[in-house]
This record gives sequence, structure tokens and C-alpha cells, in this order.
Amino acid sequence: IPVDPFDLVIFGGTGDLAQGKILPALFRRFCAGQWAEGAQVIGAARTDYDRDKFRNLVRNSLESHAGRHSQDTAALNAFLQRVDYVTLDAVADHGWAELAQKLQPDRVRAFYFSVGPRLFGPLAERIEAYDLTTPQTRIVVEKPFGHDLESARALNATLAAHFRESQIYRIDHYLGKETVQNLMAVRFGNMLFEPLWNSQYVDHIQITVAESVGINGREEYYERAGAMRDMMQNHLMQLLCLIAMEPPAKFDPDAVRDEKLKVIRALDPVKPHHIVRGQFEGESSSYRKAVGNPRSTTESYVALRAHISNWRWAGTPFYLRTGKRLVARSSVINVMFKDAPHSIFGADAGRHANALSIRLQPNEGITLKVTIKEPGQGGMRLVDVPLDMSFAEALGAENQDPPDAYERLVMDVIRGNQTLFMRGDEVEAAWAWTDPIIAGWQARGDVPKPYESGSTGPGDAELLMKRDGRRWQGIN
Ligand code: BG6
Repeated sequence: IPVDPFDLVIFGGTGDLAQGKILPALFRRFCAGQWAEGAQVIGAARTDYDRDKFRNLVRNSLESHAGRHSQDTAALNAFLQRVDYVTLDAVADHGWAELAQKLQPDRVRAFYFSVGPRLFGPLAERIEAYDLTTPQTRIVVEKPFGHDLESARALNATLAAHFRESQIYRIDHYLGKETVQNLMAVRFGNMLFEPLWNSQYVDHIQITVAESVGINGREEYYERAGAMRDMMQNHLMQLLCLIAMEPPAKFDPDAVRDEKLKVIRALDPVKPHHIVRGQFEGESSSYRKAVGNPRSTTESYVALRAHISNWRWAGTPFYLRTGKRLVARSSVINVMFKDAPHSIFGADAGRHANALSIRLQPNEGITLKVTIKEPGQGGMRLVDVPLDMSFAEALGAENQDPPDAYERLVMDVIRGNQTLFMRGDEVEAAWAWTDPIIAGWQARGDVPKPYESGSTGPGDAELLMKRDGRRWQGIN
């Protein structure tokens, strides 16, 4: 379904995110026929390009990032006709009058701040000074949304001085992933799971976002952020919310975000012995060498045990872990159910518990571990088998290539649907939970535990589980 005609301005249009993610996503939606007649995208940046130079840059980026679509030369050329450029200074007046001229009235007008947060204020001020805001104006901002609670509050205040909350789209690209949205469909579209989805039946939940990549090209940012700020405060927190929240009454922006916020606010502070930090090392790739700081204490891995103090979840721990340079790229949520209360098969049958694994990436799908009789044996011996479903197989060939997170998110901006974007209070609540953890490390002079590149993370993370009589499910 085509969206309404739009003007989308990308500040930072020559940057990596715009070229590597936003424009390829827009191009794929263009190829899918979602752009209305006359819609246009305007890159804006300080680089002194003219329109043709910018189009060339975009062409090259699409050729490397837009997959099979970029082989369709006719589509590529048609798309580039809709791409314009303005050389513009975010902190001065240069270029703004030209930008104003290119914008058309009575259209969705989206401004994508694909720039560092220090430019949010200056951009917002000029958008207002040049009277570029219309009732259909939307502002898109990227993470990192702040470095801590104080800076996030300041950013929210800056944006709030110029725009209404209903105009602000804070991106957490995990929410745009098909399989992440599927968490809500699985939970709230089935009768099967929800009655069991609580501390009475669930022993614990594991959320793993493992990456095999390092921090190439982002050393400076990462050294200041670390895994806690880069991944835990946002992506893992969002996954936790979607897994733990109460059913919203409707799939609408405030209903969903209210429920997520309640989860974050119900999180207990994390105890220092319930958290493990790690830093990768090894001959071929060492974090400290990568950032050029032999004494760096930034974590590239973090595992922790979280508790949600509410009726549904009291007593069920949530174990969260994420790290770089691990053995594989794998994002999985494991819902580990309790043992049956009594085994009619006697002690020989062993202990068996159901587990639901939701694979977010790669090999997207769901596996339910169920217990059945071991065939052919005398007596009644039990064995666990997987009831396995891959989304690609189940949904057929046309769904083999699910849309990238940015495709969904950018189109939702144009549609004016904020459901998959973070509200200001949500981001602040997430920082309010994260800040004391980081402050604790600083106060104690905590040094992350080394772990071998290509491993499953530091041994202490295994201990975190072992102490509780549990173990992590494999990363693969
Ligand atoms: C980003 C982080 O937000 O998410 C990166 O800044 C991380 O460090 C990336 O690599 C992971 O995203 P994805 O989509 O590859 O899982």
C-alpha cells in the first residue's frame, strides 16, 4: 500500500547510516511500490556536493547495500530522480533558505537527524526559525539517545522545546526487525502461551544477543559507550519489555509503550554480583589493541540477572547477555519452563522441562522443546525433542527475504505510526536503570574479565548461571 506523498530530509545525508541503511531501505520500499507519486528524499550535509554528485554517491551505496534490487537499473535510475541534495550547515544559516524552497506544502514532511546528538538542538532551532514545521512534520532521531539519564533528559528537553512528543520518532532498530515484532504476535496472537507466561510456570528467561563482529571503525564511540550503553540499555531492554509486558489493550503507540514503560519501572536495581563484564582478547583480535588503549576498562560483553518486581514475574529471573567477537552471531530468547510438578514415570525418567526458543536472527524461527517417550525401550523412558519451525520454510519463498528493520521504520514514520519507536519517558526510564550499574563499576574501579575472541564469553558469565543451578543455552 503506497504511503502518502512525502518530503524526507536526511540531515547527515552523506554519512554511513544514511548511505548504508536509510537510503537502501527507502530504495527497497520504492521498488516495492510504496512511494506515492512525487515523493522525494533530500540529503542535507555540509559536504559541498551538487545534486548529481550526491546521486552518484547514493548510486554507489545502493549498489553495495541494496542487494538484488540494485541490479534493476531502471528502478535505480527512477529512484535517483527522486533524490535531491542541499549543502547545508546545521549550526549556521547556509543552505536553509534553499532547503525551504525545495519543500512542498501539504505533504508529510519528515526530518531525519542522522547526525550526532549535539546537532539536535541547532537543527531543531533552524527548522523552527525557517518556519519549516507543518502539522505533518515528523522528526526522526537515532541512538545513542544520550549517554546517561541526565543527557537523555537534556535531549528530550531540547526536542520538546520545538516539537510535540507525537512528532518525535526515536529509533531503536531492533523494534523494526520482523522477528522482534513477531514476539508480540506470538505472545498475543496465540492462546497457547499467555496462560503459562508468568512466574508460576516459567523458571527463567534468557535473552542473548551475541555478535561475531568487533567494533571496526567505531572505536572512539564504543570506548565511551561499552556494551551496557551500546546494546543493553536499548536493544536488550526492548526485547525484555516485549517478552515481559502485560498485553496492551490495542496495538497502538501509547498502549504498547505504556506497558513497556511499566516493565522498565518495575525492574529492580541489579546487584553487583549479578553482573559480569567482559572484554575480548586474543592474538588476532584484542579489544585493547583495537581501541589503541592498553588500559581500557570498557566492556565489550555484559551478562546480568534482572528481576521484575510485579505480580507476573516476581521470582523469575531474566538473564540477559550481549557481546562482541563471540563465537557466532545469534540473537535468541529462551523461555525456560519449570519441571512438571510430579513425575508419574519415577526417578528413572529424569528431569524434563519445556523450553521455547525464539530465534530472532539468524535462522529466524521458533523451537519448542517437548518431552516424549523414547521409542523402543522397555519401560517408560523419556526424551526431549524439538518441535521446530523456521519462519522462512513456514511462510514460503516470497518471505525468504524479510524487509530490513529500517524499511519498516522509515515507512512507519511517513505513515505517522509511533508504535515501534521509543517514547521519551521510556528512554529515560531505561537510563535510570542503567546509570547506577555503570556508576557502581566506576566507583569500584571494576575491570572487565578477559574472554577469548570467538568464544562464548567470560567464564564468570557461566558461573552467574551455575550458582543458580542453571546454564546458558548454546550460542549458535
Ligand atoms: C547497534 C550497535 O545499535 O546495533 C552495534 O550500536 C551493533 O554495536 C548493532 O553491532 C547490532 O545490530 P544488528 O541489527 O546487526 O543486530
